Formats: sequence, C-alpha cells, structure tokens
Amino acid sequence: MHAAVLHEVGGTPRFQEFPDPVARDGEIVVKVRAVAVENVDRAIVAGTHYTAARYLATLPMIPCFDGIGELPDGRLVGFGNLRPPYGALAELAVVPADGYAPIPDGFDPAAATVLGSAITGMAMQTAGGLAPGETVLVQGATGVAGRLAVQVARLLGAGRIVATGRDDAQLAAVAELGADTVISTAVPDEELVAAYRDARGDGYDVVLDYLWGRPTEILLRALTPDSFGFHKPTRIVQAGESAGPALGLRAEALRTSGVELCGAARGLRDRIGEAYAQVLAWARSGELRFALERVALSDIEAAWRRTDLQGRRLVVVP
Ligand SMILES: NC(=O)c1ccc[n+]([C@@H]2O[C@H](COP(=O)([O-])OP(=O)(O)OC[C@H]3O[C@@H](n4cnc5c(N)ncnc54)[C@H](OP(=O)(O)O)[C@@H]3O)[C@@H](O)[C@H]2O)c1
Repeated sequence: MHAAVLHEVGGTPRFQEFPDPVARDGEIVVKVRAVAVENVDRAIVAGTHYTAARYLATLPMIPCFDGIGELPDGRLVGFGNLRPPYGALAELAVVPADGYAPIPDGFDPAAATVLGSAITGMAMQTAGGLAPGETVLVQGATGVAGRLAVQVARLLGAGRIVATGRDDAQLAAVAELGADTVISTAVPDEELVAAYRDARGDGYDVVLDYLWGRPTEILLRALTPDSFGFHKPTRIVQAGESAGPALGLRAEALRTSGVELCGAARGLRDRIGEAYAQVLAWARSGELRFALERVALSDIEAAWRRTDLQGRRLVVVP
C-alpha cells in the first residue's frame, strides 16, 4: 500500500510504499477514507508527546492514530487505537475489532474526522458538568478545537460565552460563531488579569482550556479572590497546551477560590460514543460549522509543513 512514512523522530513523513498490514486475531483491516492531522499527531512525531515512546518504538512508522475508514462490507466507521507501526496516514489501517464506531450514511468522511476535535467541546459537560445558563470561558478559541467548542457551548445551552485568542481578526470570527465577549491574550499581564475579571460577570462556571502556559497562569491569578470566603466554583477542564506545557500554580489560586481542575477525559469513557453522535448530528443539521483543507496522501510532505491553516483542519484523503 501507499502510506506517509516517518523514518526518524522529529522528521517529516514521506509518501512511499509500505507493507500492507495483516490483521491478527481480534483485528480488522479497513480502507482509510480521511484522516485529520492534529497537533497531537505532530507532537508524537516530534517525540514531545507523553505517548510518543509507544508510537515511535519501531521506525519507520506511520503517523496518526485515528481516522475514518470503510469496513470490508462498505460501511463507514470512525476508527482509533491502531497498532504501531501502523497508523492512519495510509491506504489501509489495522483496527481492533471493537475499535470503531459507525458514521451515518452519506456523511462526508473528511468532515467526520474533523469532528473528533469537537468531543473536547462536549467535555464542558462530561468533565465540567456544564448546566444550561452557566457562563463558559473557552481559553484558546481561535483554533479548530476552540471554534468548535464555542459553538458546542452555545448548543449545550451556555448562558454566556467568553473566548480568548491572540489575534484580533480571528477573535472577530470567533465572535461571529457565538462568543458574547472576546479577550485578547496579546496584552501585558496586568491588562489581561483585568480583562478576565471584567468579562467574568458573576463568575466563570466552566473553563475549557486549550492553552495552558502563560494565559492560564494569568487566568488563575484573575480567579484568585481578594477576600476570604467560600467562592463560587469554577471548573477548569484541561484540554490542550498551545501556549505551553507548564505553568506556575500558586497555592492561593486553589485554596478558597472555588477553582477545580480536571482533565478533558474525565467522565468521557462511558459517554464518548454519545458525545460523538451528538456532534455528528449537529454538524449534519448545520448547527456546527468548521473549515477544513483537504490534501491528497501523496502530498503529505508539503502538507505536514504547512503553518497557514488558521482555524482550518488539515485532512488527508488517501
Ligand atoms: N484533548 C483533546 O482531545 C484535544 C482535541 C483537539 C485539540 N487538543 C489540543 O488543544 C490545543 C489546540 O488544538 P487545535 O486543534 O485547536 O489547534 P489549532 O487549530 O492548530 O490552533 C492552535 C490554537 O492555539 C493558539 N496558539 C498557538 N500557539 C500559541 C501561543 N504560543 N500562545 C497562545 N495561543 C497559541 C492558536 O492561536 P492563533 O489562532 O492566534 O494562531 C490557535 O488558537 C492543542 O494543544 C491540541 O493538542 C486537544
């Protein structure tokens, strides 16, 4: 088969021949129809993601661990959990027999693969316990996942949505998608603290955080109260690290602030199928919008290096 093949950690995948995967007991080979290339895939290839050692244990390997494919009987499915060195950026993928979920007939495979990123938006509810009418802050709203999350917040019934980003033109686009207030993080620290406080109304109930690093450290400063008391909970759901993998966490940011921290995977294990079905349904009805850039598998080398996507997801179509 043809595949995008990585030869060294930190390299760029190359289009070439690779041996077809052979299914072992409990596995099935699917024909790959579309694969979204995400930051997590780039971090694995760079060797900087916490799961990288598993995927890069054998080189050469094929990057990307999920996508949309076709079963031997022609049914379209979303698949994941591939067995390295086989990945999704190939004509064929080897999938655990319980590692796929149906995609509705007629759904564009390229759109279906992008919607995996909307599942973190659902984490506002599954991990953050978002209730209708509550105030949401989407931290890092100008990327693909953040733009989806702003719309998911609206569809889940959030009362008010605040969204952050570092580029004014892109923040204007996020406002059009449903954010009530946008905040630029590209300002001095004290100005950003004030902006978070001005925009919070009677408090952020759920924060969905795709940034971490400096902006989230400053957000935690803004959430630290200036008086004793039992402050209203703010549930921060950690989903990404575009602004940095670490931050300084002061004890006072937690002690009486009401801030609770959890990961986006919390509560998702038993609800991921339901969450994915919901975002597919919203996309189908036109309530969830997003942009994607389709490229052929044979163009992977140039596509992998692209930095001009700004809110569009790169989707590889074998
Ligand atoms: N847990 C999950 O299931 C899941 C799913 C999807 C994404 N994620 C994670 O969430 C993050 C965003 O993913 P994405 O798919 O939305 O990415 P994306 O489409 O590539 O967008 C990247 C976002 O991060 C912002 N950004 C990049 N570098 C930054 C910096 N130094 N400081 C502040 N903002 C910065 C970008 O701002 P500009 O618009 O100004 O460039 C943009 O909003 C990534 O860490 C990704 O791995 C997690």
